[in-house]
Amino acid sequence: MTVEAAHCLTVPVVILENEADSPAGQIAAREFVGHWSNQEVLASFAHACDVITLENEFVDAGILHWLETQGKPVYPSSHTLALIQDKAKQKHTLYSAGLPVPPFTDFEYQAEINAFAKQFGYPLILKACRNGYDGRGNFRINGETEIAEGCAKLGYPERELLVEAFIPFIKELAVMVVRAQDGTTALYPVVETVQRDHICHSVTAPAAISPALAEEAQDIARKAIETIKGVGVFGVEMFLTADDQILINELAPRPHNSGHYTIEACQTSQFENLLRVVLGLPVGSTALTAPAAMVNLLGATNSPTNPKGVEAAYAAVPELNLHLYGKKQSRVGRKMGHLTVLSPHATAETALARAETAAAYIKI
Ligand SMILES: Nc1ncnc2c1ncn2[C@@H]1O[C@H](COP(=O)(O)OP(=O)(O)O)[C@@H](O)[C@H]1O
Ligand SMILES: [Mg+2]
Repeated sequence: MTVEAAHCLTVPVVILENEADSPAGQIAAREFVGHWSNQEVLASFAHACDVITLENEFVDAGILHWLETQGKPVYPSSHTLALIQDKAKQKHTLYSAGLPVPPFTDFEYQAEINAFAKQFGYPLILKACRNGYDGRGNFRINGETEIAEGCAKLGYPERELLVEAFIPFIKELAVMVVRAQDGTTALYPVVETVQRDHICHSVTAPAAISPALAEEAQDIARKAIETIKGVGVFGVEMFLTADDQILINELAPRPHNSGHYTIEACQTSQFENLLRVVLGLPVGSTALTAPAAMVNLLGATNSPTNPKGVEAAYAAVPELNLHLYGKKQSRVGRKMGHLTVLSPHATAETALARAETAAAYIKI
């Protein structure tokens, strides 16, 4: 989607991807195939670029630093990635800056989880510090007897974990933050996200919360990205509790699923704003033009991709905006696409109902 935005500005994009014919590679000017830890591939990729950005948080900060030493600007920087790609370090960074996060601790010995549970009670959430996504690095511990199972499932002790208190949130909120090279910020509206099995299912914009809470959420999101000196576009995931507390769940140093709705529903999409930041162009308006909802399209089978029901979805919901990513292989629960519906004359809830209607037709 960043490549699509770049095409409108006639900016050629070069992709580095593990597998040939990736969704971005299919429409990019050039695709380098290989792993970023392969020095040869990385060097030829870097040689082809004037400026580098990223769309996941797994690229090791050390690799980004090497690119910077080659004279290639990287946004967001290796410094920013080093602060957040480890979830424990990220939480320490936010906590030290006075920002609200759930109670958490990193630990060396499993017994420390017991001590933490004595203080905060069960359930607890165990999280892999690195390389988790769509809940794949998370495990909910309901009682002491599940500690060992959770640790083993997530790869402890080879893999570092953290443990945090379970937050009985009433809503999950998210804000996309754009931060330019000169440090100025622009914020997208606060949205409500719904996760099913730890995977984002839907996003509604704007979130149905009071203006005061929305302002507080945006304020927290802005401070979080300033704290990590982020340059680019960032997703800030938050929990809202029954007593109106807002806690940061995690930061994503890239365009984010909770910002996909911005393609159709905001003056400037998160993808175009990432490009503008990276290219040093003025940041575009983040204003919402209509209440909107996005629903993810997850893989329903483990088979080569073969979307069904597109025609029926278009027929049933003429205002549908469909995005299929072109991933060659479908897997159960894999994000294969998303759709967005705007309701200019109604509410975000109406948009969500229409989006759910459309999504129900599509099987991938
Ligand atoms: N401390 C927590 N309390 C309650 N729910 C949580 C907690 N941490 C995570 N979750 C749930 O799991 C989802 C995924 O967790 P997250 O830490 O964001 O991992 P990922 O990197 O896979 O997105 C969250 O969006 C939320 O629904
Ligand atoms: Mg998350």
